Amino acid sequence: MRNFIILLTSIFLLSAMIFVGCGNKKETKKVTLTESERTEYMEKGQDLSSETQKVLGSNLMKAIKEGGPINALEFCNIQAYPLTDSMATALKAHITRVTDKPRNQANTANENELTYIASAKEKLSAGEQVSPEIRVMDDKVIGYYPIITNQMCMQCHGSENDQISEETLARINELYPNDQATGYGVGELRGIWVVEMDGEKDHL
Ligand code: HEC
Repeated sequence: MRNFIILLTSIFLLSAMIFVGCGNKKETKKVTLTESERTEYMEKGQDLSSETQKVLGSNLMKAIKEGGPINALEFCNIQAYPLTDSMATALKAHITRVTDKPRNQANTANENELTYIASAKEKLSAGEQVSPEIRVMDDKVIGYYPIITNQMCMQCHGSENDQISEETLARINELYPNDQATGYGVGELRGIWVVEMDGEKDHL
């Protein structure tokens, strides 16, 4: 009898676990896109990432002019850029910036992003053009847009011995003790913009 009760209890607990497990499963609609919707998403994401890059670049340049790279360190952080926020809201999008060699650990690329980064780097080093990519993930449409270095980036991401001043390097190491984002040359892939867009299509 005792064994029977234990058995019944176990069956009950097991079914409860399965039931709760299934109940928790999030219902996600898989988005399907036509070729032209794909292009539209690609362009919307491109607009948002280019605009963000432009604002970032001019803020950086202004801050460097005013007080050198050491004064500009905080301006390469994309948080608190209101323009980006309002554009992103209108597009029902969310924009982030990630990399395989992070300065700020919070900007570390995930597995899918790393795959894109690796293939983009391969193309670049073979002298080919890198193009953005659109991926559908459940109910989201995600765009990856390459971020390529130029001369201006070198004073904070270039070579530690000559391009980054001793003073700037010391401050970078103080703020980011695990910094991996130096040693770049001009025309290299520093990271990517990741634009996550709503798959509902009503904002297209
Ligand atoms: C004044 C110094 C400075 C300059 C110039 C600069 N950066 Fe940065 N960069 C930083 C700092 C500091 C961070 C970390 C920001 C944060 O905490 O999110 C960063 C972060 C990044 C990231 C996010 C990934 C990571 O490593 O955390 C990318 C991508 C990036 N920079 C690209 C560029 C590009 C491209 C240029 C040139 C157009 C550039 N940066 C110029 C200082 C600079």
